[in-house]
Amino acid sequence: MNKLTGLFFGVFLLFGVSWLAFAAYPYITFAGLQRTKDEATGALAPPGNPGTADQGARVYAANGCFYCHSQFVRDKNAGSDIDRKWGKRRTVARDYMFDRQVFLGTSRLGADLTNVGDRQTDPQWFYRLLYNPPAVSPESVMPAYHWLFETRAIQGQPSADAVKLEGKDAPPPGYEVVPTAEGKALVDYLLSLKKNYPLPEAPEATE
Ligand code: HEC
Repeated sequence: MNKLTGLFFGVFLLFGVSWLAFAAYPYITFAGLQRTKDEATGALAPPGNPGTADQGARVYAANGCFYCHSQFVRDKNAGSDIDRKWGKRRTVARDYMFDRQVFLGTSRLGADLTNVGDRQTDPQWFYRLLYNPPAVSPESVMPAYHWLFETRAIQGQPSADAVKLEGKDAPPPGYEVVPTAEGKALVDYLLSLKKNYPLPEAPEATE
């Protein structure tokens, strides 16, 4: 084998192995993931993401929420996520099959949000948190996201989405604070974050 053939073969091997490991293997293991069907109820799991939640996921990415919040629950013997009530079971690849982008995150300055839509079901709670985090949790270091809201004069009836704010956050009389389309989509996304369906490969943790 002359030097050139050796070099060519080496480069081919290097790229070939990388392709197998980073393209072919994930494709074979993840691209074929299917939903499971509950025999008794006929319910499909995972259920899929409601329309505006996909838009909200982009707002989540654009605002860097993933810098402080993770979205994965570890197994009981791999960490305290389940004891901290961040989920009843660990998360697995199938949980993310409908996500365009997966926000696993690396830092947990804030809580894990995998099941935040299960813990909190009231959109108003999320609006108040995003408008002014210390109003919901006094010691919070989470930044305020005022630009996801607008203050406007009340025309006729107050808006159904108007954020219920108290004290110095309250708008002047005759005005209301309402979420923008982006703010609403983000909260729809947060409300959709709940992995509360069973999957055969991730049974609920037992003691
Ligand atoms: C600088 C870090 C940081 C960033 C960025 C951040 N958060 Fe937080 N977040 C926190 C912290 C810390 C808490 C916990 C607040 C507390 O209770 O003290 C929190 C709490 C929360 C909670 C409540 C969780 C629960 O279970 O009670 C939600 C929901 C949330 N954040 C959503 C968001 C969203 C959406 C964004 C992006 C728009 C965001 N956060 C950006 C730090 C951050």
